[in-house]
Amino acid sequence: MSRFAEETVVHIHHWNEKLFSFRTTRNDSFKFRNGHFVMLGLELDSGPLTRAYSIASANHEENLEFFSIKVENGPLTSRLQNLELGQKVIMSKKPVGTLVTDDLNPGKRLILLATGTGLAPFISITKDPEVYEKYSAIILVHSVRRASDLAYAEHFRNTLPQDEYLGELVKEKLTYIPTVTRESFALNDRITTLIEKKFIDMDPASDRVMICGSQAALTDISNTLNERGFSISPGQGQLGDYVIERAFVA
Ligand code: A2P
Repeated sequence: MSRFAEETVVHIHHWNEKLFSFRTTRNDSFKFRNGHFVMLGLELDSGPLTRAYSIASANHEENLEFFSIKVENGPLTSRLQNLELGQKVIMSKKPVGTLVTDDLNPGKRLILLATGTGLAPFISITKDPEVYEKYSAIILVHSVRRASDLAYAEHFRNTLPQDEYLGELVKEKLTYIPTVTRESFALNDRITTLIEKKFIDMDPASDRVMICGSQAALTDISNTLNERGFSISPGQGQLGDYVIERAFVA
């Protein structure tokens, strides 16, 4: 039996020349925790070609959603960006990952820090009703280079707060903070600077943090948190004040 399941592309949205999202069918037996990733890709003549992709949809939704960069010469994304409706993609049958709220110590606020396509798991997590039960406030920071890279801004500003089931909780508890580092915008600082300046004043006694993004950003943001007394979850199933996605490639 193949390690991979085959799913069909049912929706595609190009945000700009560098970013796109797509949705696929979901097998009934495919179960995941919000925040998990899968190995996703294409079956080529030479064999399967996959990369780690966080699931952007929530585990109660019918389809699976993914948010991807387009790399001109990237072996996979140069092909994936030309996906068409009805095309097949392959994905691992067992989603995994360390970016789950189960591995966080009890806390009051949940702070989600994303750079670039590292936003993907937080699109899932901010649709999770359990998260709104567990925390009194949820703060989502998305750092990108250009304003046009702020994919899902409309979703966070308007769609999610209007959601039939979650809308009221979202309005009460979720704060969406976009920051654009290479163009003029309301906020221009990197996440590390926002923490250092206390724009987001973080307290290890009550704040719990999840980080997803490029390796460089993960390292620098982790160091900034460590300096403030936060302890990282050492691995899956082990509690910490913050978690990072160790396998995700932004
Ligand atoms: P900057 O524009 O100052 O490099 P990228 O597209 O390179 O992954 O970057 C996405 C966002 O993450 C950008 O806002 C970028 O800021 C920021 N970023 C990149 N590297 C780091 C880092 N080491 N620490 C904090 N933020 C970072």
